[in-house]
Amino acid sequence: MKPPEPASPQPKFRRDYSPPSYWVDEVDLRFELGEGSTEVHGKLTVRRDPATPAGTPLLLDGEGLELLEVQLDGAALGEGDYTYEDDTLRLVPADERCVVETKVRIRPETNTELSGLYASSGNYCTQCEAEGFRRITFHLDRPDVMSIWSTTIVGDPARCPVMLSNGNRAAEGTLDDGRAWVRWEDPFRKPSYLFALVAGNLSCHEGEFTTRSGRAVRLEIWVEPQNIDKCDHALGSLQRSMKWDEEVFGLEYDLDIYMIVAVGDFNMGAMENKGLNVFNAKYVLARPDTATDDDYEHIEGVIGHEYFHNWTGNRVTCRDWFQLTLKEGLTVFRDQLFTADMTSPAVKRISDVRLLRTVQFEEDAGPMAHPIRPESYIAMDNFYTATVYIKGAEVVRMYHTLLGAEGFRRGMDLYFERHDGQAVTCDDFRAAMADANDRNLAQFERWYTQPGTPTLRARGTWESGRGHYVLDLEQSRADLAGHPDFIPCLVPVRVGLLGEDGEALPLRMAGDTEAPYERVLELTESRQSYAFELSSAPKAVSILRDFSAPVRLEMERSREELTFLLAHDKDAFNRWDAGQTLAEHIILDLVEGRATEVDRAFVDAFGSILSDADLDGSLKALAMALPPSRGLAQRLPSVDPAALFEARERVLTTLAEAHASQLRATYDAMAAKSGTDIEKADIDARRLKNACLALLAQLGGEALDLASDQLAHATNMTDAQAALSVLVDAGGERATLATAAFYDKWRHDPLVIDKW
Ligand code: BES
Ligand code: ZN
Repeated sequence: MKPPEPASPQPKFRRDYSPPSYWVDEVDLRFELGEGSTEVHGKLTVRRDPATPAGTPLLLDGEGLELLEVQLDGAALGEGDYTYEDDTLRLVPADERCVVETKVRIRPETNTELSGLYASSGNYCTQCEAEGFRRITFHLDRPDVMSIWSTTIVGDPARCPVMLSNGNRAAEGTLDDGRAWVRWEDPFRKPSYLFALVAGNLSCHEGEFTTRSGRAVRLEIWVEPQNIDKCDHALGSLQRSMKWDEEVFGLEYDLDIYMIVAVGDFNMGAMENKGLNVFNAKYVLARPDTATDDDYEHIEGVIGHEYFHNWTGNRVTCRDWFQLTLKEGLTVFRDQLFTADMTSPAVKRISDVRLLRTVQFEEDAGPMAHPIRPESYIAMDNFYTATVYIKGAEVVRMYHTLLGAEGFRRGMDLYFERHDGQAVTCDDFRAAMADANDRNLAQFERWYTQPGTPTLRARGTWESGRGHYVLDLEQSRADLAGHPDFIPCLVPVRVGLLGEDGEALPLRMAGDTEAPYERVLELTESRQSYAFELSSAPKAVSILRDFSAPVRLEMERSREELTFLLAHDKDAFNRWDAGQTLAEHIILDLVEGRATEVDRAFVDAFGSILSDADLDGSLKALAMALPPSRGLAQRLPSVDPAALFEARERVLTTLAEAHASQLRATYDAMAAKSGTDIEKADIDARRLKNACLALLAQLGGEALDLASDQLAHATNMTDAQAALSVLVDAGGERATLATAAFYDKWRHDPLVIDKW
């Protein structure tokens, strides 16, 4: 006989949401960490919702738990009083309020799923988002059930000298049998996905932060003892995050202690558990010789992200998992603003848009396309997507663009005023933004309901008779299998016009008393026209500045216009983008046989960037990079990867040949300028230097000696890695030797070997 088919998992639908029948006001946990297994005693203070009829069963989630005992209001339940089937513990409370106690056994040492309580290099660690808490003990494991938590951890002090959980440390002691215990209390209501426990042998890098209202907060970075010399940057990043959130959003930290733990085995980048963040070690540990400048920036960004969740995620959380973008989109947007402020807004914006266009646009055009707030899912864990995160962040950014920084802040203030301590929806967020600014944002909901990347078509016409420059905008979306027709969204389009010498022209529209130099047009229909009164034709239009909406822009523009924008646009993003569009034309012309040579004007423009004193090294390095093949491939009806690769190489080699001496001179100048500090001037110099090196390497020969030399003498990982990757790309014996030497030097450091 065939074994029975496992029941196929059923999708959940957003429209099926209903509030829970019971609430859990308090959770009191006791963990007894033992050799090979752990006992978890859970005590839930339960309250029936007024809308729930008496006699309704209480259904608690529990997955793979060995149930030892159930008690209801202090009395042990017999076998007939409850069932535990299909990951659900079912019992029927008699009263409106009751206390449910369960005792279960779990096996962290053999839990290989990195969800629930598991062991990582001999330490205990938890991961509960989205639905991992049910693998620890019985609970209403859903984000709209928020409770006050306390946790006692008992363990062998030799194996677990450190035992951490959420909230403030309330008490500790030693039992008669010699085991140690610690009690943690978290005064803020939270859902189960924010629970965390960490125990084992860890070392602490300690710091402090005084909030603007004068409260002292202890900061603790917990790592494996051998990594204690790599925590400085993480601590500094945390302090900068705390200060920034106070200054920009008026948000203060709320507990007496903030802990970050770095673990080797972690599925995601990091997790925002209340007061006890758990991080993948690579987003914590840094030392100049082991981490690149990019690593340093990522660490600061991830630490910021998880810290910012304390308000956007923890204090105000999601009603259900369909609302994930409520916390993730918003928090990614907040970490983007933070990184922009800590580094360079233009560089940050460019790298974020590059990621969006390659990864998210691709997802949004394929079989996996879904709205930022999905309508259904089968496995929640597969819904942590580029769309929910980074398109979600773009959607939040559009409120910021439409309402301005101050209007956005008013919306945030109202959001916290209304919803602190609650589990809410994306609609609640939108309502706060609208109400705080007296705006109707009903149409804006469409960004939450429709998948796919809209196309924005733009056309400009000079009507000399009327002295009008008319901009026609049109929005549409390519057909998307399984999704109904696109209905127009509210699209903020930031525009500027450039005059003869590249100067900004005043944008006067009919009836205006003022004429700003930049405007955010609000496109609400399928097509709309905007007329600007001017005395003569503008030389160029700069449209979708700072990438003001997540759309594909289509506009016919001549090489001359793009080259002009590349030279003069005041908007750093569009300046870079003009260069990318130009490069795209150049490459695609070669691929599709419209050209046999690389356009001379493009080669010259590239030289001007290299010598432009207004651009910093990071921006130059970005401008020198050609558009990635992945994005280019999206533009071609049928892709021949080999031809695409060849054309890209051809352009790179042409640029390198044409500017070889300037590239070399820049390399030398930047090498002399870049010290060893992790600060803007040095980082900019290193980025430009290594961009020059990579391009020079197209020519082989001398440049490869330069790379070998750089690798041999590098005092920081940025230079070492850049040189190594140049050598590896060049192949041959040099590559073999360089990789072997690199491996030999770093074999003891798993994070470095990861790069290798
Ligand atoms: N809440 C997530 C982590 C998470 C995601 C846990 C999915 C469980 C399932 C966290 O805030 C997060 O978004 N982390 C990101 C990094 C961040 C900088 C975007 C991650 O882990 O990649
Ligand atoms: Zn997050």
